[in-house]
Amino acid sequence: MKAEARYWGSVQFYKHLILTVTALMILVPNVGLMTLLIRHYRLKQDYQAAAAEQTAYINQLEEKLAYFLEDTINRDIDPDTKGSQLVPDTPGQSTITDADMLSIPFSVDLTDWRYILVNDQHPLAESFQPELVETRNEKLIHKKIRASLELMLDDAKKEGLDIIICSAYRDYEHQARLVAESMEKLMKMGHNYTEAHWQTKLNLALVGTSEHHTGLAVDLVGTDYQTLDEKQADTPEAKWLAEHAYEYGFILRYPEGKENITGIIYESWHFRYVGRTAAAFITENQLCLEEFIELAKKQK
Ligand code: DAL
Ligand code: ZN
Repeated sequence: MKAEARYWGSVQFYKHLILTVTALMILVPNVGLMTLLIRHYRLKQDYQAAAAEQTAYINQLEEKLAYFLEDTINRDIDPDTKGSQLVPDTPGQSTITDADMLSIPFSVDLTDWRYILVNDQHPLAESFQPELVETRNEKLIHKKIRASLELMLDDAKKEGLDIIICSAYRDYEHQARLVAESMEKLMKMGHNYTEAHWQTKLNLALVGTSEHHTGLAVDLVGTDYQTLDEKQADTPEAKWLAEHAYEYGFILRYPEGKENITGIIYESWHFRYVGRTAAAFITENQLCLEEFIELAKKQK
C-alpha cells in the first residue's frame, strides 16, 4: 500500500504520464491518417475497377455499333447485281476475264482493314501488330471482330452446336514454331528438307504469310471432333459454319477447288473476317479472297 501511494504523484508517475500522453499524441493522428490512407486506397481500387468495367462496356458497345452499321450497309445491296460464278482453272493465274467479270455491287476500299490480303505473295511486316482483345478460350483476336465472332458462336450454340476456337491470333514466333514442328515431323517420316518444306507449305503459311497474324482469322471446330483434317468438313459444326459464317462477316478462306489460287489445301475450319457485305458477295459467288481483291482492283 505504501509503495502504491508513493507511485501516484511520484516522479516515476509523471514520467509515465508524459510518455503515455506523448505516445497518444503521436499514435492517434497517425492511426487516423492510416485509416484515411486505407480508405483512399480502397476507393481508388473501386474507382479503377468501375472505370475498367465502363471501358469494357463502351468497347463492347462500339463493336456492336460497328456490327449494326454494317448491317445497314448490307441492306443497300441489290441482290440482282450479283453475277455468275467464277470457276478457276489455271493454276496460279488470274481466273477473271473481262467476259465473265463480276460486278461488285458496293465500293471496295482496298486499304480498309477488313480486306487485308495475306498470302505467300503478300507477307506482313514483322512489326505488324493488330489491336487485340481476348475472346473465348482465352484466344486473342482483332478488336473489331469480337462482337461478330461471339454472336456467331452464340447463334450456333442455340442450334445445339458447340464450336470452339482452336486457334486465333498467332504472332511470328508462334507461326515459326508450328512450321518448325511440321518440318521436323515430316523429316522424321523420311522426307528430305525440300519435300518437307513444300508439304508444310500446303497447310501452314510460312512465317509472315499467315493471316492468323492479322487477328482476323480463326480456326473453328466442334468440341466432338477437333482434328484439323478432311473429316472435319463432315461435322455438323463445319457444315453450319460453311452455310452461315457469311451472315456474321466471315468467309471460308481456303475453299475446296481454289487450292491453286490460295496455295493452301481446303481448310473447312479456317474462317476469315472481311465484313458482312464482302462476305455475302464472296460466299454467294464462291470466290476466294484473292479473286475478290483482283476483281475489286479491276473495277477501279
Ligand atoms: N493454316 C493457315 C494457312 C495458316 O497457317 O495461316
Ligand atoms: Zn487457320
